[in-house]
Parts: sequence; structure tokens; C-alpha cells
Amino acid sequence: MMQKIENFIDEKKTLEIDEKIFQKLMFIYKSANKELQTKIEILQDEAQIFYNYKLIDYITTRIKTPKSIINKMKKRGLKLTYKNMIENINDIAGLRIVCPVKKDIFAIKELIKQIPDIKILKEKDYVAHPKESGYSSYHLIIEIPVWLSKNNIYVKVEIQIRTTAMDFWANLEHKLKYKPEEKL
Ligand code: GTP
Ligand code: MG
Repeated sequence: MMQKIENFIDEKKTLEIDEKIFQKLMFIYKSANKELQTKIEILQDEAQIFYNYKLIDYITTRIKTPKSIINKMKKRGLKLTYKNMIENINDIAGLRIVCPVKKDIFAIKELIKQIPDIKILKEKDYVAHPKESGYSSYHLIIEIPVWLSKNNIYVKVEIQIRTTAMDFWANLEHKLKYKPEEKL
């Protein structure tokens, strides 16, 4: 049975990060990262083994911290409910792909779009159109099914695809400007 992650929670319930339900939700987001990482690693290995080609340098994943989830919701003026979190915070699960050359960013996003069961919800091309800050990367918000014992749940993941050079720049700039509360 297909389910939305929303069906797991009482819609209006206030978000409490110490609650079991919060941990259950984070487990579902982590599982989505795992599923997606495996699928992309297979494409990475296929390129290496079948074509002797280094398509991807490395893949990282992370789950947004509770503090960072709450800060983002407050900043957007959202009431702190599970429903609002699930519907509005698209980067709770995040996966980053770092590749050697710029043209492969587009090859990789096309490969991701072809994966059965993955739904593309949003796409932002900061490679062709860098942000004013200079930030450059290709962003996708996707939904991937996570199979649990009784349900197939669609979970959102933010994918960032960038070159090593773009990654170096973004990490440096992130420390300096993008999140000034974390200033060095
Ligand atoms: P956030 O609310 O910050 O997540 O941005 P958004 O919802 O408008 O989406 P966007 O695609 O613009 O940015 C998503 C993510 O990309 C951010 O959380 C950062 O990880 C990264 N990002 C976006 N803009 C910048 C930037 O100017 N500098 C750096 N270093 N990272 C950025
Ligand atoms: Mg973010």
C-alpha cells in the first residue's frame, strides 16, 4: 500500500523533538537516504566497471538536526506541527553528489530521473544560473519509496549535485556567510 509519510502522525500535533514519534520520523528520513545512496552508488560503480569512467567522486548524506529544523520553521513563520514540518521542510534528508567535471552534473541528474519509482518534485539549476552569492550546484527535491513492514512510504530527499571545485567554494562560503550564526 502506498502511503504519505503524513499518515504516520496526528496532523495537528505539536512537534516535540524528545518524543518517540520524532525519532520514528527521523528513522524514515534516514532510510530514504540509504535507499537513494545505494541506487546512486550502483550507477557510480557501473560507470567504473563497465566504462572505466569516474562519474562520481563521492556521495555524502545527512539528516537535518532537530535544532536546524525548528529554526527553519520559525524563520518561515510556520506553526511547529509535524504536518508543517513534513510538508514544508524539504531538506530533512539530504544527499550530496560530488563529481569531477561540470558536464557530468547533467548526466547524473538525467540518470537519477530515470530511476523507477523516484518522483521529481522540484529542480533548481544553479549551475547554468549561479546564485548571486556565486553558489553553484544542481538541486533536486525528489520522493523515494521506503518499504516498511506494512507500507510503502514516499519520503522527500534534497539532492545537491556539484563538482569538487563547486563543493570547495560552497563549504568555504557557507562557513563565512550563508549561516552567519556559525561564524568562525
Ligand atoms: P534553504 O532554506 O537555505 O534550504 O534554501 P531554499 O529552500 O531556498 O533552497 P535552495 O535550493 O536555494 O538551497 C538549498 C540548500 O543549498 C541550502 O540549504 C544550502 O545547503 C545550499 N545553498 C543554497 N544557497 C547557498 C549559498 O549561497 N551558499 C552556500 N554555501 N550554500 C547554499
Ligand atoms: Mg538546506
